[in-house]
Amino acid sequence: TERTYIMVKPDGVERGLVGEVISRFEKRGFKLLGLKAVQPSRAHLEEHYGDLKTKAFFPKLVDYMLSGPVVGMVWAGKEVVKTGRVMLGATNPLASAPGTIRGDYAIDVGKNICHGSDSVESAEKEIALWFPEGVCNYSRSIDKLIYE
Ligand code: GTP
Ligand code: MG
Repeated sequence: TERTYIMVKPDGVERGLVGEVISRFEKRGFKLLGLKAVQPSRAHLEEHYGDLKTKAFFPKLVDYMLSGPVVGMVWAGKEVVKTGRVMLGATNPLASAPGTIRGDYAIDVGKNICHGSDSVESAEKEIALWFPEGVCNYSRSIDKLIYE
């Protein structure tokens, strides 16, 4: 099944929104495979956001992400990469629909609470980067109440 990497950023952790993010994915029916709090290094974050290295906001982004611990998680389920991004909302919270995490809890793009992988390929790369020890893999009997 498809997997994605979702991460609560330092502002989301400090604001006590970790449970809120987990709860939304849990209630939706996605399956939690991995979860941990970590204070990543600068090099680790520069690797994670490597595609944005040339952007003017890159140094600011890395400093933001270094400002405290993050909580990373791996979720699995049907089309979880795309659906996860819909649940997070647009990159700029002011453009995010109400009902999305950013649309409900954030205002500025540089403090937008959460990260979600943007493709199946980047999801697998990010899972390998953040969970080199691996994640759980299990079957759930409740899947029969979620999937037709
Ligand atoms: P992530 O899920 O965190 O990867 O966000 P995204 O995929 O919606 O956007 P993108 O990958 O393009 O940018 C990564 C992160 O950089 C964003 O979530 C923002 O926190 C930050 N960012 C993006 N654009 C800007 C910008 O114009 N200014 C600032 N200050 N930060 C930005
Ligand atoms: Mg992105």
